This record gives sequence, C-alpha cells and structure tokens, in this order.
Amino acid sequence: MKLNRDSQYIRAVRLKREQISSFDTFPFHLPVIRNFKEIQFHPNITYIIGENGMGKSTLLEGIAIEFGFNPEGGTLNFNFATYDTHSNLDQYLRLVKGINRARDHFFFRAETFYNVATNIEEMDQVLSYGGKVIDSYGGKSLHEQSHGESFFATFTKRFQGNGLYILDEPEAALSPLRQLSMLSRINELIHQGSQFIISTHSPIIMAHPDANIIELTENGMQEVRLEDTHHYSIMKQFFEDKDRLLHHLFQ
Ligand SMILES: Nc1ncnc2c1ncn2[C@@H]1O[C@H](COP(=O)(O)OP(=O)(O)OP(=O)(O)O)[C@@H](O)[C@H]1O
Ligand SMILES: [Mg+2]
Repeated sequence: MKLNRDSQYIRAVRLKREQISSFDTFPFHLPVIRNFKEIQFHPNITYIIGENGMGKSTLLEGIAIEFGFNPEGGTLNFNFATYDTHSNLDQYLRLVKGINRARDHFFFRAETFYNVATNIEEMDQVLSYGGKVIDSYGGKSLHEQSHGESFFATFTKRFQGNGLYILDEPEAALSPLRQLSMLSRINELIHQGSQFIISTHSPIIMAHPDANIIELTENGMQEVRLEDTHHYSIMKQFFEDKDRLLHHLFQ
C-alpha cells in the first residue's frame, strides 16, 4: 500500500532560523539555507535537484543525521566514521515526523558507499551470531562487485519495503538500463509503503509521477515539473538534435 499524507514517515523539515547567528559561512551561506522555506515532503517521493554545488548533499545529510542516520550512510545501525567532514546543519533542522514509523531505513550516499561496504565486512568479522550483515545485501562482498553492481544489489536486496530511504545520487555508476530498473524498484517499494527523499541529476530517476520535484537554485528553492528542469530539457535537446547542440557547444 502506498503511503499518503496521514501515513507518511517524514512530513516536513523546517529551519531553526532564529538559532543561526550568521549566514556568512558554510553551510548557512548556501542559497538554499539563506532562503530556506519549509519543505513539505511528498508521501511517496521527494526529489531534490539542482546544479552541482547547490547544497543537495548538504541538505540531505542534515536531514539524515537529524533523523538518526550515520553521516556516511547505511542503516540506522551504522555508526562508523571515516572522515568527520559533515556540517552541523542537522542541529538547525527540525523534522516533522508522521505518526507511523518506518520498519526499514537506509541513507544511501554514492560518495561514501565504499566506506559502508568496508564497514559491513568489518562487522561480519566480529559478529558471529544472528547471521552475517552481508547476507541481507545478497551475500556477495560489495567490494567484489562492480561499482554499479554493488549499488544495485543494495537497492534490490537490502531495501525491504515499509522503509524510509534517503538517497544521494543513486544513479551514480548505473547504466541507463539499470537506472530504469532502479526506477521500477522505487515504484515497487513505494507500493510497499516506502517513502523516498532522493537527490539526483538523472532525468530517468526523477521521472516517477508520484512525486514532488524541488529544485535548488541561486535564489533558493522552488517546486518544478519534470519537463521544466534543465536536466530534462538539455537531454531532450541532445536527443532531438544532437548535431545542432554540438555545433553551438563547440563554437
Ligand atoms: N565541509 C565543507 N566545508 C565547506 N564547504 C563545503 C563543505 N562541503 C561542501 N561544501 C560546499 O558547499 C556547497 C554545496 O555542496 P554540496 O555537496 O551540498 O552540493 P551538491 O548540490 O550536492 O552538489 P553535487 O551535485 O555536485 O553533488 C559546495 O560549493 C561545496 O564546495
Ligand atoms: Mg551532492
């Protein structure tokens, strides 16, 4: 069953603006934080999109940490730290949670997934009871699979439904065909009571209709339609008239 406004796990995120003393330094200087408006999450999927450096990862990380995730990702049970570079944005965010609790949780970050894979191997070396952690990821060491294979194994095997999934660039390393499979997996999971918050550059990943798209720009944030995103229109121009686009590009 799909989640709705009454059953979704996270409803909104607000900024504790009154507690921020200066908007001159990272992360508060980012346009998304300076011009922050409450984000009302879609019960199924909320996409956070925008150009490189607009603050998508910073925002997602703040939301995830405030929820209780490890800054580098994983389930709620991961608490390793390879680098301590996360911002303190989480302390200035207030999450409005729903009445229902998710049964599965995962914060996926393409950037630090390697560390999650390493941490799974370390946990499996010390824990002997209750089965191996890697078994819920399909059983095969994530380091012994290709980049894309290990991501995909996580989405297909580890994600179980009734979950809250925060994903930062899940398309990284996925071929276009796998991105379509990923979208299909997302569709299955929302029909099994899951809620997603996804940052992405992929017009395929952001194409699910049961969603809101929030674009971060130099002016702050705004809700957009898929067809009005740069991601979509640039790809469209490329496929409709590649030669013309290249001609302008190379001039
Ligand atoms: N720890 C940090 N200290 C200072 N500045 C940082 C730090 N982390 C990120 N930034 C800066 O904050 C801005 C936003 O970074 P962020 O990683 O959130 O962008 P993004 O929207 O996720 O970009 P991309 O699409 O490339 O992943 C960037 O300009 C980045 O250089
Ligand atoms: Mg990012």
